[in-house]
Amino acid sequence: VQMIPGNSLITKTPEEGRQLAVKMARLVIKVTQPDAEVREKLRPVYAEDAAMLLAVGQVVATEFATIAAANNYWR
Ligand code: HEM
Repeated sequence: VQMIPGNSLITKTPEEGRQLAVKMARLVIKVTQPDAEVREKLRPVYAEDAAMLLAVGQVVATEFATIAAANNYWR
């Protein structure tokens, strides 16, 4: 599955890298649950659960760490 059009981890800035991290995390959810109706039903469940939001943050942080390494930490 080609998840990201263009399919590159390279970004100009850390901010763009963070946006890509969020996008990659969301796309994994879309691939694992292709039914938009189900995702919409589950959205308020995680949106109001602090522990689930922390889990979301952790996934994004992991994606971001990979992207940062791929970009040599924008040095
Ligand atoms: C909305 C991120 C997991 C379903 C959003 C938004 C973000 C986000 C940033 C707000 C978008 C906006 O208002 O502009 C993530 C990340 C996830 C994750 C990073 C996991 C690491 C999930 C899961 C589901 C889900 C598990 C359901 C199975 C939705 C839906 C919306 C939403 C339906 C509403 C879209 C909209 O109203 O525009 N998510 N999410 N997400 N998310 Fe997630």
